[in-house]
Amino acid sequence: MVRKSFTLTIMKTILVTGGAGFIGSHTSLLLLKKGFNLIILDSFLNSNPKVIERISELSGIKNVQKRIELIKGDIRDQKLLERIFDFAKINNNPIDAVIHFAGLKSVSDSLENPFDYWEVNVLGTIKLLQVMEKNNCFTIIFSSSATIYGVPKDLPLKEISDINPVNTYGETKAAIEKIFRDVSKVKSKKWRMITLRYFNPVGAHPTGKMGEDPLIEPNNLFPYISQVAIGRKEKLRIFGNNWPTFDGTCIRDYIHIMDLAESHIASLEFLLKSSSLLLNLNIGTGIGRSVLEIVKTFEKVNNLVIPYSFVERREGDIAVNYADNKKALSFLNWRPIYTLEDMCRDSWKWQKMNPNGYK
Ligand code: NAD
Ligand code: UFG
Repeated sequence: MVRKSFTLTIMKTILVTGGAGFIGSHTSLLLLKKGFNLIILDSFLNSNPKVIERISELSGIKNVQKRIELIKGDIRDQKLLERIFDFAKINNNPIDAVIHFAGLKSVSDSLENPFDYWEVNVLGTIKLLQVMEKNNCFTIIFSSSATIYGVPKDLPLKEISDINPVNTYGETKAAIEKIFRDVSKVKSKKWRMITLRYFNPVGAHPTGKMGEDPLIEPNNLFPYISQVAIGRKEKLRIFGNNWPTFDGTCIRDYIHIMDLAESHIASLEFLLKSSSLLLNLNIGTGIGRSVLEIVKTFEKVNNLVIPYSFVERREGDIAVNYADNKKALSFLNWRPIYTLEDMCRDSWKWQKMNPNGYK
């Protein structure tokens, strides 16, 4: 697979919050390969510091440790954020941009622990933006989510579709987007901001050396299927077979993690040559797939059987969602290139090669 892109010649320094997590780790690898220096800030609440060794190995870059600074810490710690910006300046590598992944992401957990979600996601982001402003760093890419749309009125979902989150997690992402809107309007500051509204990121690095390794119990479809395949779970429970879809199971827009990671590189390259702006972009393939289609493809590509049974609908699920990704395609030098088969193959390769994740 060949991607058309250009490499920046000047080495820029990027602060990657949550860079040890699923999406952050894959993006960090691509950033390194593109020639960026990285400062990764992560609390390791839902990730393992060992991922940094894999990122370094896969980068194939000599003395790569000189290009990555790993800091264990919390985005809510404003003093720490200030020290990170100061430290980068003192070392003549001032932070040019931030990619902000750090946050809490479980819908069910957010309903049980709303304070945590408002504090980490919203307050954490406010503190980050304040420290950025103080340090004249005005370029940021933020991990938003398709969950902010709630129950779609029309499909595919466009960036101008109603924002109507139906859970606390989604409310916090929508609130952060609102903050971005206000901040971007401050005329005296030249903010360059992109919020990427991810649909359903899945898969793993094609080598099987990097993938999703959540410490918090996964409730998502792909990690669950993989755990059934490896024998850690007995069978997949499919939440409902009476949805108004062609086979009765829910439809989502699954996107390969490498395509998603590439969208950050394209966003960064776009921002670094733009003047002030705020862009909200859907990041999906534009293709909806049912749960049964996923199961069948996973079985076929990997030549195995996934036992499953139908159970009651899961609270808070919606029947169908998929992206209109035309805006991202038109603004960014990016398009998704991985297939559903790739997603299923790479997920399984990662699980098979790393039955206990990075441990
Ligand atoms: P992840 O949990 O794998 O990564 C998040 C990282 O942030 C983890 O390494 C975690 O340890 C770290 N972290 C959590 N709280 C922190 C804090 N207070 N301070 C510092 N670090 C902290 O999740 P992911 O799937 O990589 O998601 C990254 C971002 O994308 C999140 O903001 C998430 O809400 C968003 N998102 C994810 C999905 C998805 O399905 N994976 C979909 C839409 C949006
Ligand atoms: N599903 C099952 N069985 C399982 C897990 C999931 O049948 O064990 C079904 C769900 O009912 C849903 C589909 O598989 O129909 C996908 O479920 P996921 O939990 O993998 O993904 P969601 O679409 O519910 O949510 C995900 C992330 C959110 C993010 C959203 C963006 O978990 O954080 O995508 O669209 F916001």
